Amino acid sequence: MKGTAKAHTNIALIKYWGKRNEKLILPTNSSLSVTLDGLHTETTVQFREDLQEDVFVLDNKEVTGVAYDRVTNYLDLFRHYANKQGVFAEVTSTNNVPTAAGFASSASGFAALAGATSKALDLQLSDEDLSRFTRQGSGSACRSIYGGFVEWQMGERDDGQDSFAVQVAPQDHWDIRVAAVVLTAEEKDVSSRVGMRRTVETSVFYDGWLQSLPKDMETIKEGIRDKDFEMVGKVAEANCLKMHATTFGATPPFTYWQDTTMSLMQTVQNLRKKEIPAYFTIDAGPNVKVIYLPEYEKEVLRTLEAARGVEKVIVSKVGAGISYK
Ligand code: DP6
Repeated sequence: MKGTAKAHTNIALIKYWGKRNEKLILPTNSSLSVTLDGLHTETTVQFREDLQEDVFVLDNKEVTGVAYDRVTNYLDLFRHYANKQGVFAEVTSTNNVPTAAGFASSASGFAALAGATSKALDLQLSDEDLSRFTRQGSGSACRSIYGGFVEWQMGERDDGQDSFAVQVAPQDHWDIRVAAVVLTAEEKDVSSRVGMRRTVETSVFYDGWLQSLPKDMETIKEGIRDKDFEMVGKVAEANCLKMHATTFGATPPFTYWQDTTMSLMQTVQNLRKKEIPAYFTIDAGPNVKVIYLPEYEKEVLRTLEAARGVEKVIVSKVGAGISYK
């Protein structure tokens, strides 16, 4: 009754931003991401008859409170499915991702947790089934089951059976790089969960966001297929700006950006003025991810590392899907 899985985080180029069903985590739109080889979580789950409750240890520290509740509620889903009610688990995770620093640690975290739990219970799930399970822990995590370029198809059904991720192109299809630029490691004020709910419920720009998505998705898939970096970068950057624009139109309005976030966005746009193709994208936090081609790595990193407010730059190649020990 023990399983270990390793999953990489992913960065969305077309963002998931809004739920149509909060309990099942069903999104209002399809999204697309790249799996990142530099940022991962490894998790071991062991179900033990002698435990009176679940135990969750993250990076050698026992976790309590909201993060613990999220994990234990999530394990209930598996206990219910496998008919193991009342059997508790010890969950041990190590993260090489700064938690809550906007690096989608919940993505690698829930993917690794789902994989390790299904192994521990010997459920023999297909990747598609595993992606459906993972989605119910954290939406963006369902894309981390696969390596390469991945689409989370929103689906239409109320029961979520058609809402899961599929691989659009494998890891070795195209060597692009993603620099994760750490600007601050502070906890964010508005979690992605709360932020997307507020946006769906109140943002006057939300309809415009939704209407623009099918075209973005079509274009980015074409760009990935043809390895057209400019096409992919342009759509990804524009899509990110549109997502963040919805937060300004919410009540009360909010933003994930800090002054250093905006300054780094300009740094990236200035790289392009020097004929260096680089584009940014930003999730629900202040940090910026920059996509670029390997031949420009030296110049891009030199520029990012010298930019104002930059604490650290973590470089990733396109990463692999979930793996087991
Ligand atoms: C901005 O997957 O963290 O990173 O489903 O509520 O757990 P929950 O949200 P989460 O949201 C990620 C939002 C995003 C965009 C993306 O990754 O697609």
